[in-house]
Amino acid sequence: MKVTVFGIGYVGLVQAAVLAEVGHQVLCVDVNADRVENLKKGIIPIYEPGLTPLVEKHFASGYLNFTTDAQAGVEHGEVQFIAVGTPPDEDGSADLQYVLAVARTIATYMQAPKVIIDKSTVPVGTADKVKATIASVLAQREQAINFDVVSNPEFLKEGAAVNDCMRPDRIIVGTYDDRPKDLMRELYEPFNRNHDKMIFMDVRSAELTKYAANCMLATKISFMNEMANLAELLGADIEAVRKGIGSDPRIGYHFIYPGCGYGGSCFPKDVQALIRSSEQMGYTPRVLQAVEAVNNKQKFKLPELLKQHFAGDLAGKTIAIWGLSFKPNTDDMREASSRVLMEEMWHAGAKVQAYDPEAMEETQRIYGVRDDLTLVGTKEAALKGADALVICTEWQQFRAPDFELIKAQLKQPVIFDGRNLYEPKRLALRGFTYYAIGRGDSVRNPA
Ligand code: NAI
Repeated sequence: MKVTVFGIGYVGLVQAAVLAEVGHQVLCVDVNADRVENLKKGIIPIYEPGLTPLVEKHFASGYLNFTTDAQAGVEHGEVQFIAVGTPPDEDGSADLQYVLAVARTIATYMQAPKVIIDKSTVPVGTADKVKATIASVLAQREQAINFDVVSNPEFLKEGAAVNDCMRPDRIIVGTYDDRPKDLMRELYEPFNRNHDKMIFMDVRSAELTKYAANCMLATKISFMNEMANLAELLGADIEAVRKGIGSDPRIGYHFIYPGCGYGGSCFPKDVQALIRSSEQMGYTPRVLQAVEAVNNKQKFKLPELLKQHFAGDLAGKTIAIWGLSFKPNTDDMREASSRVLMEEMWHAGAKVQAYDPEAMEETQRIYGVRDDLTLVGTKEAALKGADALVICTEWQQFRAPDFELIKAQLKQPVIFDGRNLYEPKRLALRGFTYYAIGRGDSVRNPA
C-alpha cells in the first residue's frame, strides 16, 4: 500500500520505518528541510533503539523516502498520516495549528480519494475539525472528492518505540462510518496476525482513549509519589509497599515506581490538555488536577533534598548528575525532571557536571554553552571533585556502579537517588549518605 506520513518526529519516523519494514511504500513529508536532508544521508534526528538500521535499510531499498514536497506527499499515498506535534498552547490546551495545516495541505493537493489518519494525540473533536477543514478547502477548489478521516492514536513508548509499533498491544481505530474499515485492516494486517488487536469505535471515543490511557498512567505515578512522600513521613519503605501492592493482580507491578516526577513529551502535556478540555466543557477534573499538581511538586523533590542537605548553601558547589533524558533509552529532554534540578541548582549558584548516555547533545542544544554546565563523556568523569551525586534517570549502566570509585571521586560520599536504584542499608554500610524517594529513614535521617 502507498502511505504518506506528515511529520518525521518520534511517532512519524518510527511508524514510517515499521510500515516500510512490512512492505508498504512510505513517503515521509516534513517542513524541516535539514531533517529531511539528514535522513537521506542516514543521519537520524532522534535516538531510538533499533531505528537507525531500519531507516537505513528501507531508504536503500526504496520502501522509505523523505521529502519536503507536500504535493508529492499528497499524491503518493492513498493513506495520509498526520503525525505532527501537538504542543501545549499558552493555556495548556493542545495547539492544533500543525495538524490543521497538514489537513489544509492534503485538501489543497488531493486529486483522488484519500483516507486521512490522525496519528497525533489530539483533543476530542479534532477529527471533526480536520474533516471540516478538508471539506472547506475542497469546496473552495470546487472539487467533490471522497475522503475519510480516521482517528488512530499512537501508544508507542519512547525507548521501545520500534518494538511497540511492530507488536502493538492494541490498534485503536475511530471511524465515522464503515467505509475506511477495510483499508485500515489491510494497512495493519501485518501487525495483526496472531490475534485481533484492532478495536474499532467512533472517532470521539478513539480520541479520548489516547488521553485516558496516558492520564491513567500518569495517575499511577503521581499516586505512588504521594505514597512515597507519606512513607517518608511515616517511616515506611515505599519499595516494600510497592512490592506489596503490585502483587495484587488488580493493581499489578507496572507503572508504580516512585521517583522524581514524570516528564517527556506526552504525560505532562496530555494531562494538561485533558484538564483544559474538561474545563472548556464546564467540568472540573479533580483527579487530573491533583495528578498534575503532585507531579509538578515532585520535580522539586531532589532540589529540595539537596538544599536541605547543604543547609541552603549551594553556592559554589559542584553537583554531579547521572541521567538527563526524561527516561532511559531516549535522548528526549522534553519536561525532564533533570531540567528542574539543573535550573534550581544554577539558581542557587551551584555548578552542574553531568553525564547521560544519549541526551547530552540535546542538553547542549537546549542550554547552550554556559560556565555552570559541564557535560562529560563518562559517568565516572561526572563525579570528579563534585560535592554530591544526583541520579535523575534510571539508565541500566547506573544500576551497579563502582561505589568505592564514587566515594573516591566525590568530595563527600553523598548520593541523591531520584529513581531508587540502590539499597539504603547497603549504601549506609559503605559509608554513604544516601537519599532516596520514599524510603523511610533514608530521607528523614540519612545514614
Ligand atoms: P515531534 O515534535 O518529534 O515531531 C513532529 C514533526 O512534525 C517535526 O519533525 C516537525 O518538523 C513536523 N511538522 C510540523 N509541521 C509540519 C507540517 N505542516 N508538515 C509536515 N511536517 C510537519 O513530535 P512527536 O513526538 O513525534 O509527536 C507527534 C504527535 O504524536 C504528538 O501529537 C504527540 O503527542 C503524539 N505522540 C507522541 C509520542 C511520543 O512518545 N513522542 C507517543 C504517542 C503519541
